[in-house]
Amino acid sequence: MLFLSLGAVRAQRSSQDMFMMEYFQRRILEMEERLTRCDQDIQKVSQKMYDMSAEMRGRIHTVNTLKSEIHNYVESLAARVDRVERDVEYLHNKLPDTSSIEISDSVLDQQVKEAQSKRKTVIVQGKGDGIGSWLKDPTAGSSKIYFFSGSRNNTLLQFSSLKTFTDSNSTSKAKVIQLPRPWQGTGHTVYDGFVYYHNADTRNEVLKVSLVNRTIADRMLLPTAGRIPTYGLSSHTFLDFAVDEMGLWIIHADPDIGGNLVITRLDSKSLSVEHTWDTTCKSHDAEGAFIVCGTLYVVYNSHSGGRSSIQCLFDIHDTIWIEESPVMYFPKRYSSHSSMHYDPQDKQIYAWDEGYQTIYHLDVKKMLHLT
Ligand SMILES: *[C@@H]1O[C@H](CO)[C@@H](O)[C@H](O)[C@H]1NC(C)=O
Ligand SMILES: *[C@@H]1O[C@H](CO)[C@@H](O)[C@H](O)[C@H]1NC(C)=O
Ligand SMILES: *[C@@H]1O[C@H](CO)[C@@H](O)[C@H](O)[C@H]1NC(C)=O
Repeated sequence: MLFLSLGAVRAQRSSQDMFMMEYFQRRILEMEERLTRCDQDIQKVSQKMYDMSAEMRGRIHTVNTLKSEIHNYVESLAARVDRVERDVEYLHNKLPDTSSIEISDSVLDQQVKEAQSKRKTVIVQGKGDGIGSWLKDPTAGSSKIYFFSGSRNNTLLQFSSLKTFTDSNSTSKAKVIQLPRPWQGTGHTVYDGFVYYHNADTRNEVLKVSLVNRTIADRMLLPTAGRIPTYGLSSHTFLDFAVDEMGLWIIHADPDIGGNLVITRLDSKSLSVEHTWDTTCKSHDAEGAFIVCGTLYVVYNSHSGGRSSIQCLFDIHDTIWIEESPVMYFPKRYSSHSSMHYDPQDKQIYAWDEGYQTIYHLDVKKMLHLT
């Protein structure tokens, strides 16, 4: 439009027109200059806009990264809170009287008596190595305590009672029993006056030693045992002996059936195998097991240690509907169990939890109610 009107002005060629023309030309130049500047400004602005949007994109990316980090953090926090809540809830429900779980020698007898009426835990003592086992002879009708510290030794201690065992000066009152051969692991048991154990430095030899004269009464090899530890979380134990209402058992893991546990019923008199069951319970992440009335209860944990829980049951009579049995948690104490021995006489589990000797009282009726 500007150029068209300029053309029209030129056609008249008068001096006044010339003046007007010059005027217009100046104005046009000015306007052109302004346009150029405007253009430059626009370029600057759009460069700035570009820089800004690049920066914004960068920031949005950072924010997104942060957002997903926070999201993950919140999720893991929620999971942890959830776990803590379950722990607290468990403690409230299952252990209403938490104050009486503390270690106290003077009220120990009382606690053990109370434990017999309720499902409860008593931490009896903290002595010996980080791993080991302690147990009673359920057949002898006596209250003697047998104490095996560590995973390899030939010396065990015998205490006349739980009371003697918990005395501050107890070690001096113990009877020292030397076995003819050292044991291996933490699985040994005492049954009817004999100690049954894995002969150290052998793959799967079982020794039966008389506690009266400390001579080897019998020995046998347990086929398929000794190639992998019985429990994934307990590397020293290859043969885990158990005693229940039915008698003497050995639990071991067999790599040929995917590392699942195998339970073997032993005739304690002849030390011969009566029957063997391949179970559906994995040894991976297991820390221990015990047998109650012919049902294997396998206790699992994690490598970092945590709350132990029974997550697999195997009943030789097939009366427990395994899919429906709930996970059963142990009260959290220390971090892992190196041994668990069920005593069918007093229905208690004698466990070794990171060097602490602990008694768990089983509510057997409740467990059998699962049938
Ligand atoms: C065996 O046990 C005895 C007595 O508890 C202890 O003095 C000794 O150090 C142990 N030996 C090993 C190799 O752990
Ligand atoms: C511990 O037992 C020993 C030997 O039986 C005895 O000499 C000592 O006085 C006892 N100590 C305590 C604190 O009872
Ligand atoms: C050792 O004691 C057991 C009973 O505990 C007995 O059967 C065995 O004959 C005894 N052995 C020796 C050599 O005395």
